Amino acid sequence: MSDLVIHNARVMTCDPARLGVGMIDHGAIVLSGAAIRWVGHDAERPRGDREIDARGRLITPGLIDCHTHAIFAGERANEFGMRAAGRTYLEIAKAGGGIAATLGPTRAASDAELIAELRGRLDAALAGGSTTIEVKSGYDLTVDGELRLLRCIAAAAASRSQRVVPTLLAHVVPPELAAGREAFVAELCSRLIPQVAEDRLATSVDVYCDEGAFTLVETRAIFAAARAARLAVRGHIGQFRDLGGAELLGELGGLSADHLEQVSDAGIAALARAGTVAVMLPGACVQLRLPVPPVERLRRARIPMAVATDLNPGSSYCEALPIQLWLATTHFGMTIEEAWLGVTRHAARALGLGGTSGTISRGARGDVLVWDCDDPADVPYRYGAATHLIGAVFIAGERLSAGLSPLAS
Ligand code: NIG
Ligand code: FE
Repeated sequence: MSDLVIHNARVMTCDPARLGVGMIDHGAIVLSGAAIRWVGHDAERPRGDREIDARGRLITPGLIDCHTHAIFAGERANEFGMRAAGRTYLEIAKAGGGIAATLGPTRAASDAELIAELRGRLDAALAGGSTTIEVKSGYDLTVDGELRLLRCIAAAAASRSQRVVPTLLAHVVPPELAAGREAFVAELCSRLIPQVAEDRLATSVDVYCDEGAFTLVETRAIFAAARAARLAVRGHIGQFRDLGGAELLGELGGLSADHLEQVSDAGIAALARAGTVAVMLPGACVQLRLPVPPVERLRRARIPMAVATDLNPGSSYCEALPIQLWLATTHFGMTIEEAWLGVTRHAARALGLGGTSGTISRGARGDVLVWDCDDPADVPYRYGAATHLIGAVFIAGERLSAGLSPLAS
């Protein structure tokens, strides 16, 4: 196996064994096969078959977008316009817009159309540095339709080099079944979830537990079915109203609680006890003009915070994590270090990939970005063109070449 050494770099390891973001100022890394074989000070680096001089530039783990709804058809720019004119997300949803407005176009799209659209979004995400991306189902909301979406996610992923982590999302009760909520939840639990697990179409189940979506009682039932099928649980919690979802996720040891604009102290304590990650979604928060989540309370409770795009056609049509870094560090008041850990180590943990991804450490996956800057603050600071600061991308140890500026070698 040939070793690649990248030296003369500022290596932001995000390794919990080091302090803060684990910066090594005069650092080097060695990639071997699909993994990182060595990380340390440049002066101590081993020799490799190939060497690249990073000329003092920043190296980080590949970014991880741990919350997207990237598979859908149809757009909702009309709703964006209505919100710009002062209508709220919930008003528009009650009038037939919102998630329900994406069900029709998604159900009507062919597999080939859904896969092609998803591929385009995966490519846009990769251009923003996302070497791992989670994709949720949730815009069909029938048993067969959700299975189809998950199969399309797998098909799109197979044609792309970045890693895709699929999640089954219980999004809302579809409008045509509004009178039969109980039967719909029962079908999700007895048919859809076991099938998803059997066919290995997703590693976790996410429930949108909020006003206009699932109640706490329904959420508990869906999570119970997920756990019985040995799938991890995550939740869209308190975007509009706190229904007690954080307490429930804490009780069940959920991987992540996402949104959290509204969350009680008891909910935060429960998340802290369970080690659940709080996923911040600043793009959706800003766009829906919601209050900022309680970052200071989460910080004081020592809850790991992730940052994600929430890419979806309604509240956040954005593939680019660097823009979310900007919103996290400005509007949300997260520090540069917190925001970076949010798109690396903590995002990996929200996907159940902690320990093997999201850090530059010995044995971790060889997902690495070389930036055309030397300061981690540069990325959110220069948010308008931050994606152009990505100089080289390595996924599982392989260098991607398309459209990237050359490095001296
Ligand atoms: O995360 N909150 C639920 N789901 C999305 C919005 C989906 C949509 O409007 O289509 C979100 O913001
Ligand atoms: Fe979401």
